[in-house]
Amino acid sequence: MWTRRALLQRAGMVAGAGSLLRGNLLRAQHAMAPQMAMPASTSHARTLAVSSLQPFVDELQLPMLQHSTGKRSDTKLNATDAAYFRVRARAITAKLHRDLPPTQLWSYSGSAAPVLFDVRSGAGVLVEWANELPAKHFLPIDLPLPGMKHSPQMDGMQTAPETRIVTHLHGAHVPAISDGYPEDWFGTGHSRLCFYPNKQDAAALWMHDHAMGTGRFNVLAGLAGWYILRDEAEDALGLPTGPFELPLMLTDRAFTPEGQIYYPNPPDEGTWTPEYIGDFALVNGTVHPFCRVQPRLYRLRIVNAANARFFALSLTGGVSFHVIGMDQGLLPAPVAAERLVLAPAERADILVDFSTMRGRTVELHSDGLQVMQFRVDNAPAQTTSHMPTSLRPIERITESTAVCTRRLTLNEFNADNGEAMVMLLSRAHWADPVTEIVKLGTTEIWELANLTGDTHPIHLHMVRFQILDRQGFSDYEYLANDAFVPNGPRTPPAAHESGWKDVVQCPPYMVTRIAVPFNGYAGRYLWHCHILEHEANDMMRPYDVVV
Ligand code: C2O
Ligand code: CU
Ligand code: CU
Repeated sequence: MWTRRALLQRAGMVAGAGSLLRGNLLRAQHAMAPQMAMPASTSHARTLAVSSLQPFVDELQLPMLQHSTGKRSDTKLNATDAAYFRVRARAITAKLHRDLPPTQLWSYSGSAAPVLFDVRSGAGVLVEWANELPAKHFLPIDLPLPGMKHSPQMDGMQTAPETRIVTHLHGAHVPAISDGYPEDWFGTGHSRLCFYPNKQDAAALWMHDHAMGTGRFNVLAGLAGWYILRDEAEDALGLPTGPFELPLMLTDRAFTPEGQIYYPNPPDEGTWTPEYIGDFALVNGTVHPFCRVQPRLYRLRIVNAANARFFALSLTGGVSFHVIGMDQGLLPAPVAAERLVLAPAERADILVDFSTMRGRTVELHSDGLQVMQFRVDNAPAQTTSHMPTSLRPIERITESTAVCTRRLTLNEFNADNGEAMVMLLSRAHWADPVTEIVKLGTTEIWELANLTGDTHPIHLHMVRFQILDRQGFSDYEYLANDAFVPNGPRTPPAAHESGWKDVVQCPPYMVTRIAVPFNGYAGRYLWHCHILEHEANDMMRPYDVVV
């Protein structure tokens, strides 16, 4: 673990002009545009300019619904008569835009559009994830980052296979054995059976690769999908369904002039890209698509599946929308919004009323970036649905029920003295001994003190939590004197983030407090920053739930 002295040094507070400069530079970038810092691509002549592809020429693809091939049981996983699915991770090529040649991808669905599981709360499913990828990665994967050396799967192997995968079902309340622990990866020709009990409320979960050291390349290659969980309480609301419910997976990519996914190449660009930002927005695998809609109420399920980009979503033409749910399901009541910032891995469930926009087009934007276009029919809608006024009651966690409070820091150590830049949680690496050991069935408060100039989306596996508040503090006092000196008011979460969450945005120089009930399963899980480049180097930590 890093000592306080080393942290001060590396943060440029005691010595090292280099670090100070770098720190300020980072801060300045983020102050101007918190998440749009330096697109990976603009400095390179070898990527396509966003102006070179005409927007809204390709139709939105819907996700590919997965079908169960029967029922199975598995005693080791404690699954009886569960619907069984088999998903193959394969290398494919697909056209992502009319004017792009076919692009190499990895896919769970066999197409550029993500897979979709449509499942019921209370009915567990067995999914076998099969690695049918070639032995070589098509992206420039880099040298082993910190945690790689310690992977137990390395046993007897000199190097881990390049095309290792492990699927994590994000937001799922699952036993550790099926959670997709980063070190549980497997190589080409192998598969892994996971049981998802689905003992949780209706919510839009999503799956993505989580392999140690290569997860960010695997997700960028295309290994991500939808897992929509439904229940009776949600059914009773009569929300738009069928063709009027659109799952939209948002990503961003940079392309080479040949139309292939561009990722900065380690040998030319240094060893680690701190944040991957592509110039093009994609929805369900297509570069800024269009979608035909009727002039009526729609339910949009949105996930930010980008490696690092924050999407600040708004609709053109003054169209507002209502947020009805976030990561872990429905809010107590709809929240009217004009702009919604989704960090990587966050989900939003929104209702949009196109009925006043007959015959017009509406675009979904992310600040300056065009994301997609809706073309509203001129003919009146055939069916209608109405927005419910209340959705699902949520009991707020009272702070006094927490058995303990942990103060955890988000740290960034800048490149200096020949050492590479690294980002850590509580100054510890992935491979350091476990420090967060939680008793099953208890509630804890985690205070996430962000000592960096970035907003980090922090995610905990297995659990759901509630955001208590955020408060500015003096990073200098904290680092120099170990003193927590607040310098601003305690701000409660925004209305749309007041429900159950599994990712929380932790803004710079603030303490973000969350209340977490650790119910369900004992075992080893993890918590991490969901900017996948940060997670890889080395903003990811194991945690244990013990009985
Ligand atoms: Cu989306 Cu470790 O998670
Ligand atoms: Cu997760
Ligand atoms: Cu981060």
